[in-house]
Amino acid sequence: MYDFKIDGANKAQMYDDLASALKGLVHGEPDPIANMANAAALLWQTMPDINWAGFYRNVDGELVLGPFQGRPACIRIKFGDGVCGAAAASRQTQLVEDVHAFPGHIACDAASESEVVVPLIKEGELLGVLDIDSPSKARFDAADKEGCERLAAILVEAL
Ligand code: SME
Repeated sequence: MYDFKIDGANKAQMYDDLASALKGLVHGEPDPIANMANAAALLWQTMPDINWAGFYRNVDGELVLGPFQGRPACIRIKFGDGVCGAAAASRQTQLVEDVHAFPGHIACDAASESEVVVPLIKEGELLGVLDIDSPSKARFDAADKEGCERLAAILVEAL
């Protein structure tokens, strides 16, 4: 759908398209699992150069695997562990150019080299995280961070 290597203009267009598509997918649907499942599928079929896209939910203070696309992944991640746990604990998006250099990175898929993890926060409550992994180093930049945070904001309204 989009080039393997997307330039700035294409990337902006991709996130505009993703935002419109995601709004359409979640419109009128109150079930959070269904909405996360469709969001993961949308990211998976649209974003170039990724090997995992999906969610961990905050279940009683622990991250538990939610809807995703990609290889089977670790099921439970404690707050503070790995990139997902760092995003949950800090409530800040984690943009990691080289996962092997990240302290405590959890290697679910040995192919992952870089990732972006966005916390999902609704009315002050951490609902979970959106995790997107790539087999290429430094696959995600500031524009991806902004784009993914925009998508997370749309989704959070439907969780
Ligand atoms: N890489 C993540 C673990 C989840 S998997 O990549 C799907 C981390 O270190 O938090």
